[in-house]
Amino acid sequence: MGYGFALITGATSGIGEAFARELARTTGLLLTGRDEARLAALAEELAEPGRQVETLAADLAGDAGRQALIARAAELPIDLLINNAGLGYFVPFVDNPAEREGEMIQVNCLAPVLLTRALLPGMLARATESGRRAGVIVVASTAAFYPLPGLATYTATKAFDLSFAESLAGELHGVPVDVLALCPGPTHSNFFDRSGLPNLKPAAMANPRQVVREGLAALGRRTVHVVGGTNRLAAAATRLAPRPLLQAGARRTMRRWGRRRRAGED
Ligand SMILES: NC(=O)c1ccc[n+]([C@@H]2O[C@H](COP(=O)([O-])OP(=O)(O)OC[C@H]3O[C@@H](n4cnc5c(N)ncnc54)[C@H](OP(=O)(O)O)[C@@H]3O)[C@@H](O)[C@H]2O)c1
Repeated sequence: MGYGFALITGATSGIGEAFARELARTTGLLLTGRDEARLAALAEELAEPGRQVETLAADLAGDAGRQALIARAAELPIDLLINNAGLGYFVPFVDNPAEREGEMIQVNCLAPVLLTRALLPGMLARATESGRRAGVIVVASTAAFYPLPGLATYTATKAFDLSFAESLAGELHGVPVDVLALCPGPTHSNFFDRSGLPNLKPAAMANPRQVVREGLAALGRRTVHVVGGTNRLAAAATRLAPRPLLQAGARRTMRRWGRRRRAGED
């Protein structure tokens, strides 16, 4: 369905950028991330006659950035909020500076909660008045379903995102705002490089466009969407598998990923 105005966090690359490109050309955009130059270039590219495309550079790891974004967004008739910005660090927990651990929680958890809390009343009121539906997407991950040693805090933030979106969807049942927890598996973007994760075989990675198309198609139809058939099977299996088995499997996989990363660094 068409939305009037979307706010996309993390729009400077990867999945967020793909959202900006995939939405209808009539949908107004507020694009945010930290990289001002990339935001400006994307806004210029996506501008159309009669379409409002705005950018705001904001660091969502800090209160000032979050508040600046909330203030700007509150001035716009947002009816689609895409909480996508996120980051992870693939590093043993005890070796990662505490500020970096906190940064993941601020960007991946606190920012979506505060943005959604600030914008939802207006979205709800406008949707009720217009008779159209509004939407909130929280980009979680398949990492929300199982433990990933080496990505402990990241994995926990994504489990938070999944739980938050699912519960909020339950609260909003019967009102004209749809909520979706979108759970991609490994996807081509800057995420793997930035996190320090080793490169996987290209065939094991989804295209951001596929992630976004599945997400937009699922919004309003279900509350959790795992991207890709293989990931859906794996996520379903994690709900049935005994936890110790899951933990042992995850430990083996992440050890292998650690070895691959070290080999890549040599
Ligand atoms: N790629 C995957 O394999 C994968 C799998 C499952 C879930 N996800 C999730 O998908 C979402 C998008 O990630 P991606 O794969 O598209 O990775 P990406 O290419 O690295 O994009 C991450 C986006 O988040 C923004 N961001 C990071 N830190 C920020 C901060 N402090 N303040 C504001 N914006 C910040 C980045 O913008 P700036 O750098 O301009 O600030 C960038 O636009 C994340 O929530 C990630 O957890 C990714």
